[in-house]
Amino acid sequence: MQCDFDIFYERKNTCCIKWDCTREVFNEDDVLPMWIADMDFRAPLEVKEAIDKRNKHGIYGYTESMPASYCEAVIDWLNKRHKWSIRKEWLCSTPGVVSALGFSVMAFTKPGGKVIIQTPVYSPFYDVIENNGRQIIENPLVLQNGRYTMDFADLESKMKSGANMMILCSPHNPVGRVWSREELSRLGELCLENNVLLVSDEIHSDITYGNYRHIPAASISEGIAQNTITCIAASKTFNIAGLSTSTVIIPDDDIRKVFTSKLHGVGIHGCNIFGIIATEAAYRYGEKWLEQLLDYLAGNLKYIIDYFKMYIPEIKVIKPEGSYLVWLDCRSLGLSSDEISDLMVHKARIGLNNGASFGTEGEGFLRMNFACPRSVLKEGMKRIRNALSFVR
Ligand SMILES: Cc1ncc(COP(=O)(O)O)c(C=O)c1O
Repeated sequence: MQCDFDIFYERKNTCCIKWDCTREVFNEDDVLPMWIADMDFRAPLEVKEAIDKRNKHGIYGYTESMPASYCEAVIDWLNKRHKWSIRKEWLCSTPGVVSALGFSVMAFTKPGGKVIIQTPVYSPFYDVIENNGRQIIENPLVLQNGRYTMDFADLESKMKSGANMMILCSPHNPVGRVWSREELSRLGELCLENNVLLVSDEIHSDITYGNYRHIPAASISEGIAQNTITCIAASKTFNIAGLSTSTVIIPDDDIRKVFTSKLHGVGIHGCNIFGIIATEAAYRYGEKWLEQLLDYLAGNLKYIIDYFKMYIPEIKVIKPEGSYLVWLDCRSLGLSSDEISDLMVHKARIGLNNGASFGTEGEGFLRMNFACPRSVLKEGMKRIRNALSFVR
C-alpha cells in the first residue's frame, strides 16, 4: 500500500507535546512546531490494527515485559535491518531510552563519577548524568567542512582521566552523523582499553539516507559487544513514542544482571501492553512503510537544502546522514542563540530547538524537525525566510 505522507492530521488537543505545549515551551500559542523529535505522520496501519485488536479485549492487566513473540520481532528486525545477530537472553525492556540511560548511569557509575558525552548532544544526556550526581566529561565533536567528526586524541585523554562510562549517540542527535565502522571500532577499542563501559543510544538507527547505513556499535566485535549496553526503540522509526517502550540489549551476563536489578529496584518489572503490541507489529509489518517514509524524508531534506541555498544562504545546513532532524548553522547572523530563537518564535512564528540547549557548542545553531507533510515544511521555510528580512 502506498502511504500518503502529504496528509496533514490535526494533532492539537491530543495531549501532544509538540502541538499542544507551545505556550509552555515558546511562550506563544501561534507557532508552527518543528521541534521535539516525533513525526506528524500516522504510524503504519498494521500498528493501529494490532492495538485495536488488543484493545477490544478490554482487560489491561499486568503485562509480561518480554513476551517471546516480541523478542522474536526485535531479533528479526536487528538481523534484517542492521545485520546484527543477537540472543533473546540479552534483551531487557524499559519505559524509554532516556530512562535506560539513566538506569545505566545509576547502576554502573558512582556518585561523582565521570561520564563522557560528545557535544553538542541531545540535552537529556546531560540530565541523566548531572541529575544523578555524576560529572559530565565533554568530548566535543569537531565541525570541519560542514561535517562533524570525533576528536579521538581528546577522547582518549578524557578516558584516561578516570571516566568509566561513555554515552554514545548513534546516529547522532543533533548533528546527524551516522558513525562509520572505522569510527565505531576505534571508539569501542578505546573503551575496552580504558575500562570505560559504552552505553550506545541507537534510537535513530532506522532512519538513514542514501548510502549511509547504521552499524550497531556492539556488532563490531565480540569484545565490544561484551562491553556495551545498546538502547533501541521503534518509537522514532514508527512514531509511537507516546507508548513508552524501548529495548535494551546487554550481551554480558553480569552487566545485564546488575542493570535488571536496578530496574527491579525501582519497581519496573513489566511493560506497557500497547507499547509491546505496537513495537512488535511495527517490526514485523512496518518495513514497507518505513521504506516509503525514508523516501519522503529524503525529499523533505532535499527541499530544505535547496531552499536554504537559494533563499537563506546565511544559514548553513549541516546535512544529516541519519535522523529526521537538521542542524542549522546560523552563526553568520551574528546573533546569540537566544536572539535567533526569539526571531524564529516571535517574527517567523516557528518553533525550533535552540542550539544552545544541546550544549555550549550549539550556540548559534538551531535544530529543525522535518518529519512533517511537505506543505507544513514549505510553510516553515517561508516563515524562516520572512524572519530573516528583519535582520538583513
Ligand atoms: C538520541 C535520543 N535518545 C533518546 C530519545 C528519547 O527516547 P525515549 O523517548 O525513549 O526516552 C530521543 C528523542 O528525541 C533522542 O533523540
